Amino acid sequence: MKLIIAYIQPDKLNSVKEELFKADVSKLSVVANAVGCGKQKGYTEAYRGIVTEINLRPKTRIEIAVNDEFVKVTTDAIVKGARSGKIGDGKIFIIPLEECIRIRTGETGQEAIG
Ligand SMILES: Nc1ncnc2c1ncn2[C@@H]1O[C@H](COP(=O)(O)OP(=O)(O)OP(=O)(O)O)[C@@H](O)[C@H]1O
Ligand SMILES: [Mg+2]
Repeated sequence: MKLIIAYIQPDKLNSVKEELFKADVSKLSVVANAVGCGKQKGYTEAYRGIVTEINLRPKTRIEIAVNDEFVKVTTDAIVKGARSGKIGDGKIFIIPLEECIRIRTGETGQEAIG
């Protein structure tokens, strides 16, 4: 099992969801108001004449736990839905996932995750 965590541009959430549903991935968690910065380390902006470093940009964090055979289809869907080709499109992390427990039934592992 793997935990897929993606940081995407907030305005790409709908198209990412559409691509995920097309790929039959329907379980996900979304954290709408994440903030972060990538390798550009933010940008500068003038407010009332004062130039300020704004280094945390709004991002949407998506978390999807999947069985190993669904990793590629899931990450492909996220990339397809989120890519504009511009800097800041986002990033995907894939983390080994040790266990999953469905609280209602007590099922674990592959049965609980899907
Ligand atoms: N190494 C990292 N660790 C944790 N979060 C990260 C990391 N890199 C990027 N992020 C998160 O992903 C978001 C999007 O990153 P971003 O797309 O700007 O990556 P990048 O490496 O700067 O690539 P690009 O040059 O395409 O902008 C960041 O705002 C941050 O929330
Ligand atoms: Mg960046």
